[in-house]
Amino acid sequence: MRETTSYEGKKLPPMLGHSRGYVPLLKHALALKLWPLGLLGDGRKKHGEVFGLDLAGQKTAVFSGPAANEAYFRAPDDQFSAREVYKFMVPVFGKGVVYDCSPEIMSEQLSFLLPALKEQRLRTYVGYFNEELDRYFAGWGDEGTADIYTSTNEVTTFVAGRCLLGKDFRDNMSAEFAALYHDLQAGINLFAFYAPHLPLPAFRKRDRAREEIVRLVSRMMAERRKSGKTEEDFTQTLMEAHYKSGSALPDSEIAGLILAALFGGQHTSAVLSAWAIIEALRHPYLLGPLLAEQESVLGGRRTFAIEDIRTMPVLERLVLETERHHPPLIMLMRKVLRDFHYKDFVVPAGWLAMASPGLSHMLPDTFDRPERFDPERFAPPREEHKKANYTMITFGGGKHRCVGMAFGLLQVRSVVAYILRHFDLELVSRSPSPDYSGFVVGPTQPCLVRYRRRKQAQIAVPNDRSSAKAEGISA
Ligand code: HEM
Repeated sequence: MRETTSYEGKKLPPMLGHSRGYVPLLKHALALKLWPLGLLGDGRKKHGEVFGLDLAGQKTAVFSGPAANEAYFRAPDDQFSAREVYKFMVPVFGKGVVYDCSPEIMSEQLSFLLPALKEQRLRTYVGYFNEELDRYFAGWGDEGTADIYTSTNEVTTFVAGRCLLGKDFRDNMSAEFAALYHDLQAGINLFAFYAPHLPLPAFRKRDRAREEIVRLVSRMMAERRKSGKTEEDFTQTLMEAHYKSGSALPDSEIAGLILAALFGGQHTSAVLSAWAIIEALRHPYLLGPLLAEQESVLGGRRTFAIEDIRTMPVLERLVLETERHHPPLIMLMRKVLRDFHYKDFVVPAGWLAMASPGLSHMLPDTFDRPERFDPERFAPPREEHKKANYTMITFGGGKHRCVGMAFGLLQVRSVVAYILRHFDLELVSRSPSPDYSGFVVGPTQPCLVRYRRRKQAQIAVPNDRSSAKAEGISA
């Protein structure tokens, strides 16, 4: 049957044809699962900034490039709905929380997190980062081999435990909490997207885990209320928050918002930190300037403050280039509730709409030789990301832009700076490729590194000219 190409006198986004991996019933869905960026790249090459995919019967418009991204992120909630797409997270966050609310209540709930993300709090959290990093990496000993992604995952879980739930909870953060968190994560899969309440063992475990987490968090808050002790963490902020109506948040909503912050920030930060280390090791000419910068900012100091991390532009550019190559969320989705017009096209109600950090970050119109890992593209005078708005969309954009961006970036930079400063590292595994099997795209494991702890005084700054030569890159 011929594909319809117009709707109410306007053009529909041109559909991508039979690509590699196109199969009759699933259409583009299988290819999108197996090699998402290959498929999206083909669509962009053939059709430009807006094109259509057929995901097993669900028509989806893909937007890419600064102008189309801007239109996408500026669409209002009653036209492009995040809630309709992400409601498979409701069993994880709980009833009446975030995607289970009207857009107005969801905004109000997310605004309760903001005082926990203010500058003064970030300063406090950097103190926690120092403690958690020292504590975790003491376990590495002086030398050995470790999976860098497992390590960044573990350390960011401890950091999250500390910043979200407080010191007492973190100190007693048992294998029990780790197991519950694992069961919640395992309940986020393809089935959850279509039918989150199927009677599957993974969903039963997910539901039990959430109930148990609510119980643990409620008990911890009850103890805090009883003792009158306050802490500088997300839980405290939420315990003190009130709706415009004057009512305080029930415990289950506080637990749900804590889980939303945990799911938003932990895995994503772990992925970026691991990739940044892997990329620095793949491009050893970067190590010299990174270590020299740390030396000049920190000197012999053991701990770092927020200002230190903020005055490390070489580190900042490493993380930016890592974000560009490896955005943890490669596809952001919305349900189209009302027809959406963009230039000559109309995307009809009922379609899905996608913006893709993975695709937009690799466009040669925006980034010079985009496949090259080149942090200096972000340095003046090049500043390729400043050619237009919405070139870098690692954290989304518009109304639904990530609320935890400043926290997440500070955490990633701190973890990366700490690891590079304290250890001499070498990549043992073959360079890992992205693992597209999950919702958050990390490196395929194993990603083993061999490490040796540096003595503080021994931070050897490699001669970057010679290592740049070895990489075949002119300095
Ligand atoms: C480096 C780490 C992070 C990355 C890459 C990241 C990425 C993103 C992206 C792409 C979005 C937009 C989703 C969309 O438009 O569909 C988003 C939203 C969100 N993020 Fe993050 N995030 C990170 C860290 C965090 C942290 C630390 C928190 C919490 C403290 C957090 C909480 C949230 C929340 C609650 C939203 C939903 C905002 C809304 O819909 O209005 N994220 N994040």
